[in-house]
Amino acid sequence: MSEIYGKLNGLRQNDIEKLKRLYDYIIPKEQSVSYELALAMACLTTEFNREIAVYINRRGTVTHVSLGDKATVELPEFSGRRSFKRLSGIRCIHTHPSGDSQLSYIDLASLRTLRFDMMAALGVADGTISEVCFSCIDSNNNTDLDISSFGPFEFKDFLALDIVSLIDCLELKLGVNDTQSTEVSAETALLVSLELKTSKNEESSLKELIQLAETAGATVAEVVSQRRDSPDPAYFIGRGKAAEINLLRQSCKANVIIFNAELSPTQQRNIEAVLGAKVIDSTSLILDIFAQRARSHEGKLQVELAQLRYNLPRLGGLGLILSRLGGGIGTRGPGETKLETDRRRIRTRISEVEAEINSLTKHRKLHYERRQKTNMKTVALIGYTNAGKSTLLNTLTNAGVLAEDKLFATLDTTTRKVQLPKGRTILVSDTVGFIKKLPHSLIAAFRTTLEEVVQADILLHIIDAEHPVWQAQSDAVLAVLKELNADNKPIITVFNKSDKVDNCHIIERMLRLPASVAISALNNTGINKLLELIEEQLNKSSVVINLVLPYAKSSILSDLYQYSNVISVDYIEEGIHVTTALEPEMLNRYQKFLSKI
Ligand code: GTP
Repeated sequence: MSEIYGKLNGLRQNDIEKLKRLYDYIIPKEQSVSYELALAMACLTTEFNREIAVYINRRGTVTHVSLGDKATVELPEFSGRRSFKRLSGIRCIHTHPSGDSQLSYIDLASLRTLRFDMMAALGVADGTISEVCFSCIDSNNNTDLDISSFGPFEFKDFLALDIVSLIDCLELKLGVNDTQSTEVSAETALLVSLELKTSKNEESSLKELIQLAETAGATVAEVVSQRRDSPDPAYFIGRGKAAEINLLRQSCKANVIIFNAELSPTQQRNIEAVLGAKVIDSTSLILDIFAQRARSHEGKLQVELAQLRYNLPRLGGLGLILSRLGGGIGTRGPGETKLETDRRRIRTRISEVEAEINSLTKHRKLHYERRQKTNMKTVALIGYTNAGKSTLLNTLTNAGVLAEDKLFATLDTTTRKVQLPKGRTILVSDTVGFIKKLPHSLIAAFRTTLEEVVQADILLHIIDAEHPVWQAQSDAVLAVLKELNADNKPIITVFNKSDKVDNCHIIERMLRLPASVAISALNNTGINKLLELIEEQLNKSSVVINLVLPYAKSSILSDLYQYSNVISVDYIEEGIHVTTALEPEMLNRYQKFLSKI
């Protein structure tokens, strides 16, 4: 059967034969259309100056060919359509002789009525394909069908789209496969690590990538690493390696490829074109984890802003299409909202979020100023992710901050009051976990959260003493501090997880660092020594004074306990005699009670 449907008026037998030859093409299973078939359609479109539509089933066979006029093409009758829930199993690829590939209202109406797997339009100009747009039925809300539209794309990008994955995503969303939930189940990831020949920490960087991917919710199926002098500017890992990874991806059935570095939008697009699958780089992965973990309104806004800015130059990538339809890593926005993928709407949303963050920043500034007035000293916990910051804050205050063995368990800062051994109260803030290669854009995005670090009087640098590359992690943290211009603050180095380090010589060597202490936040050991160190550090800048408070003003004593380091208290005839160490800027407050006794 090779009937030509539609408007055949004015066509010679020879022309009809040419159209009939379109039935001879076999399309590779993963492709929406083959290069050869599309080209043949483009040539005939230019020759007849009319639309041509081909209908292709999932086996890659052309089932119908139809000829239209300049602006429309008639649909042939389709028999044996599937149930309402299912897609038809047929896709329609048609040409637009105008060169424009935007789908018309009629195109979209037919997509809905006939439940095609896809409706694609190839814009044809002078026998070549200038651009492609396509639409799919995205979801099934009661009786209403949502449609998602993509493009325009370059033809080569459209050819690289993996139609099998696309249909899987769509059917999963439409609830076709009843054994699976409509939510996309955990993603299967293939990890790709590029190690530069100069790098030494290959193993730990791979371990970290695996941990990050698992934290994001993916199941790691395969890990591939490659050593090179430098990344390939176009394909990052090199085109040959990309082709090899493609084979591996098919055999291990991975639906997402995760790289251990930041990819440029071009590199990402090129790799997606070779692999035909969703490609995630380290920034997107970290953002995804942040998106899942953001708790406060401000944290959520910061993540959303970073994600929007990240996505803007990457619109049009195939990964975005697959992920938009299928969900998963790279599409989660804070607060369970789906990430916007339309350029104009992204820009509007960026302005809205920026405005809201600005107003929150002003609010936060007021908060800092008020805090400063109370003269309560602040200590910020900083450290590589998973070093044990939240656990330490829990131990210090029983604050109930989330602590789990996943990277970036903490996203928002949490501030708690902690009492030092001699009675002085300080504020301790937990901060976002640092990480090597913390992308620049993220440091900028989390600037207000990291402001806690900039505002702190003392920094507690928590190090996972048990980690094989704690030194490199520590260097990474110090590098981020430098970037925040906070590297000149007093730092106490806290070697945590000492319960897991058997060799006492190792700990001894660590403690050669000035102002350092070994603790176990989990087992509550070394905590007193740590608090004493904080006290010592605070006293360094303070001055010792003697005051005599009239008995009528005895309430000032509790103030002094809170904001200074009370050394002794005597009750004498003239009043309460207090010797205390306090910050020079607080002297004014107590000037009139100063005594020479
Ligand atoms: P991020 O939020 O990712 O920055 O992590 P974090 O630095 O806040 O680390 P968190 O407190 O979440 O701890 C990470 C893991 O280390 C958890 O499983 C803790 O139970 C464990 N941990 C923390 N402190 C200790 C310790 O002293 N000893 C041992 N053995 N494990 C610890």
